[in-house]
Amino acid sequence: MHDVPSRAQHDVPSRAQHDVPSRAQHDDLLARRADYPILERSTYLINNSLGAMHRGTRERLTDYADLWDSVGVVAWETWFPEVRRVADLVGTALGAPAGTTVMRASVADAVASVASCFGYDGSRNRVVTTAADWPGTHYFWTAELQRLGGELVVVPFDDDGLTIDTDRLVDAIDDRTRIVSVSLVQFRTSALLDIAPVVAKAHAHGAVVLLDAYQGAGAVPVNVAAHEVDFCVGGSVKFLCGGPGNGWLYVRPDLVDSLQPTAVGWISHETPFAFDWGPIRYAEGAMRFAGGTPNVPAAYAAAPGYQAVVDVGIERIRERSMSLTQPLLESALERGFTVRSPHAAERRGGHITIDPGDAERVHHELIARKFVVDYRPGTGIRIAPHFFNTHDECMAVLDEMEKIRAGH
Ligand SMILES: Cc1ncc(COP(=O)(O)O)c(C=O)c1O
Repeated sequence: MHDVPSRAQHDVPSRAQHDVPSRAQHDDLLARRADYPILERSTYLINNSLGAMHRGTRERLTDYADLWDSVGVVAWETWFPEVRRVADLVGTALGAPAGTTVMRASVADAVASVASCFGYDGSRNRVVTTAADWPGTHYFWTAELQRLGGELVVVPFDDDGLTIDTDRLVDAIDDRTRIVSVSLVQFRTSALLDIAPVVAKAHAHGAVVLLDAYQGAGAVPVNVAAHEVDFCVGGSVKFLCGGPGNGWLYVRPDLVDSLQPTAVGWISHETPFAFDWGPIRYAEGAMRFAGGTPNVPAAYAAAPGYQAVVDVGIERIRERSMSLTQPLLESALERGFTVRSPHAAERRGGHITIDPGDAERVHHELIARKFVVDYRPGTGIRIAPHFFNTHDECMAVLDEMEKIRAGH
């Protein structure tokens, strides 16, 4: 069973702001455990890598197949509006107004469509990113700027090899910057970026901000509208628990109609069903970024996971996440493990990266024992509880790591 234990049971020191929550406080969240069947079969603590599947996903995939099977091509009358509804559901989790978010296949796909709006000749030819960003996006910018003659500015890690100082990122932005391409939450360490000064500096110098919120969405409050982020990308395999096949892209509504992406498809046209030949007449708003035929089964699969995040509420999820990860981090330190995530809860996202020593072997053994976490070379073991996980589970994985380390 996964009862939330009293603090005395795990000897977590008293910290008013990170108290282990009483069971009653989170009864409704624990009741939702039944919606994620994998929790019955394993200690599932890797929701920043592949979020647990919602049981509604299986039904939705059957609905999708049934509709295709029963009405054939007429299914598009249901499928197109459904994909848009799912995009708006993601938008709700990001603080984006309806109609400003579109589904794409992946972050890679969404980033390429954003980049296709810009050129890099002339004096404004730089993209600013960091060494902590997603490798796939780095590969893209390296190749794109080599092809188009732009310059990639990579803000390096601090001396610890893990953190990126926000001031150094802000300092790297100037009048030569076209795009600032950064992650909200670093995938290795969970370090959380203070986005406000980055957006302020970029806008003051006429640059746009492309925020990769993949590791943050569904775990930390992201309010793209309040922060005036120009573009926000992510997908749904992580804390949104929507599974693979879905990327998404938010574009600032007061910017979007001035943009002319070249990485477009027939759905980007203002009248796609006219099948007009000739130069594209862009759809209004974010739909110009919709591209080609949408990934309908992926959107169907994702909806229950997204809906649960929206229903629980991102503020509540954040509070719950901090109440689980802070004792986890502190207990890891007490056990002598190296922690490669910021120690202050407000400076990190929803996961903790721990190196118990010999992390790769410990990770393999944890998987064999049905403690599902993951491992990133050079960094350690990532542990990512979601709102449906318990304090007990977080402590149990640490206990198991200690046992493995001791050779048991
Ligand atoms: C920060 C971040 N960006 C992007 C991705 C994935 O990008 P894509 O959807 O292109 O596979 C991940 C992880 O899978 C990630 O952690």
